[in-house]
Amino acid sequence: MKTSLAIPVEKTASSRLPQTDFSNLVFGKSISDHMFVADYINGEWTDFKIEPYAPLMLSPANATLHYGQSIFEGLKAYKNDQGEILVFRADANWSRMNESAERMCMPSIPEEIFMEGMMQLLELDKAWVPSGKGSSLYIRPFMFAMDDYIGVKPSEKYKFIIFTCPVGNYYSKPVSVKVETVFTRANEGGTGAAKTAGNYAASLYPARKAQKDGYDQLLWTDGKSHSKIEESGTMNVMFKINGKIITAPIDSGTILKGITRNSVIQLAKDWNQELEERFLTVSELETALKEGTLEEAFGTGTAATIAHIERINVNGKDYSLPSISSNSFSKKVLAELDGIKYGSIKDPHNWIIKV
Ligand code: COI
Repeated sequence: MKTSLAIPVEKTASSRLPQTDFSNLVFGKSISDHMFVADYINGEWTDFKIEPYAPLMLSPANATLHYGQSIFEGLKAYKNDQGEILVFRADANWSRMNESAERMCMPSIPEEIFMEGMMQLLELDKAWVPSGKGSSLYIRPFMFAMDDYIGVKPSEKYKFIIFTCPVGNYYSKPVSVKVETVFTRANEGGTGAAKTAGNYAASLYPARKAQKDGYDQLLWTDGKSHSKIEESGTMNVMFKINGKIITAPIDSGTILKGITRNSVIQLAKDWNQELEERFLTVSELETALKEGTLEEAFGTGTAATIAHIERINVNGKDYSLPSISSNSFSKKVLAELDGIKYGSIKDPHNWIIKV
């Protein structure tokens, strides 16, 4: 991609690359050397720069710290066999970020700032993109309020930052999940579809309770009746029952519009795999588990990629899922997505951009 936005660069005096163990990447622990920063002041984005990754200085009255006006994205860059850097579906992350911004009363980010800030950062830190299947450079764009004011109102000043981290798999093994029927992640009319910090904060307490009981994540249900499966804490979810894939629709406003979710739906269409976007009820799920008609369940997400689910707790009872076979849909879709992302197979939907 050609870049034209003039972004001054201050390079780090001391790269952390030599101290980074690329053979043992824990998700989100190692951060690359630089970050892109832009400020929103007086109604416009200004002061673009790339500088060494470093702590920020914030006023204790910073509005984000009190009222949570904060949104983020997650996308990944991959290295192909020729050593080129490929970014997956960045345009989709840019537009989803602006949908979150709208819901949270924040300014939108022009495409040029998002894309060129990211591309120039990736060009500078390309040595941080790991090679090897399962590893990638996770890109974290985020925006937050910068007013120093403790009255409740939308901020007038914002910061937009992109930093990156070399990562391995978010889940290193198949996951166990519990259907949550007491706590609520999102309600219609709420912020469930926005990728905003508060959604994640609110999920921590119920998720920790489930983790204490041995589950990796929750399967959230709708806030009104707790009878319909929505999504999981770090990913959307899909179920294959009697040959058909079922995943929650996104028009309720309670579900994150997952980009991996959308990519899987597209591939299912390409392959004539039957897929329904509708709510699976908890009772349908329980019946399918009891009758053995649930063939596969898996999460879809940028961090999680395709995460196989091996155990589901419904109404207090644990059910083990069949192990993944060589012809399972989730295995096939993971291989196809990996092939596209690492540049080893054709990219028919133009999902990849090269740095
Ligand atoms: C992502 O998949 O990019 C996310 O933002 C999920 C996050 C919980 C790591």
